[in-house]
Amino acid sequence: MVQSITRIQQKLQEVLSPARYIHTLGVAETAEKLAVTHGVDKQNAYLAGLLHDCARELSPEKLLLEAYRFGIAVDCIQKSYPKLLHGLVGKMRAKNTYDIDDPDILEAIEVHTMGKPGMGNLAKIIYVSDTIEPARSFSYIHVIRESAEINLDKAVYLTAQSSLIYLIRGHKVIHPLTLKTRNYYMQKGKYDM
Ligand SMILES: [Fe+2]
Ligand SMILES: [Fe+2]
Repeated sequence: MVQSITRIQQKLQEVLSPARYIHTLGVAETAEKLAVTHGVDKQNAYLAGLLHDCARELSPEKLLLEAYRFGIAVDCIQKSYPKLLHGLVGKMRAKNTYDIDDPDILEAIEVHTMGKPGMGNLAKIIYVSDTIEPARSFSYIHVIRESAEINLDKAVYLTAQSSLIYLIRGHKVIHPLTLKTRNYYMQKGKYDM
């Protein structure tokens, strides 16, 4: 049976810190607005935004355990950095704990961290909203916010690009999927030099 938004919000408040819950609401509201702009179902966008980080605060051990339990193939980078699994595990939790069966919502939750070449429009909206929701702030965020209103593919490219810059500057590991997403949308929009 489909759960009400209020029930989902109550459950999320039990598993997320106050700051993460506020982030989640920001992503849901940003995604809902972008959905209206780009002709995507706005209730699906709100739900996907609410649930995208539902597994984000599980411990690394628990993420690995759930990934194995759900039969998710874990690569060597994910094994070393289980946080990278929170989208995949979140998708399974969305199905099993929150009774979500819409494939677009599930895809959006699954790929929201690293993106994916050839994503559906809802997945693009959540991927971008995660970076531009109102609580986020960095020097060129306005450029991504403006692009998101006009051209989703370009906004995905800019989001992947900003993610890579953040990872490099922070001496953090890069999962190849982030790079694949950036290259795919860069070439699709012919933004390469
Ligand atoms: Fe996340
Ligand atoms: Fe997030």
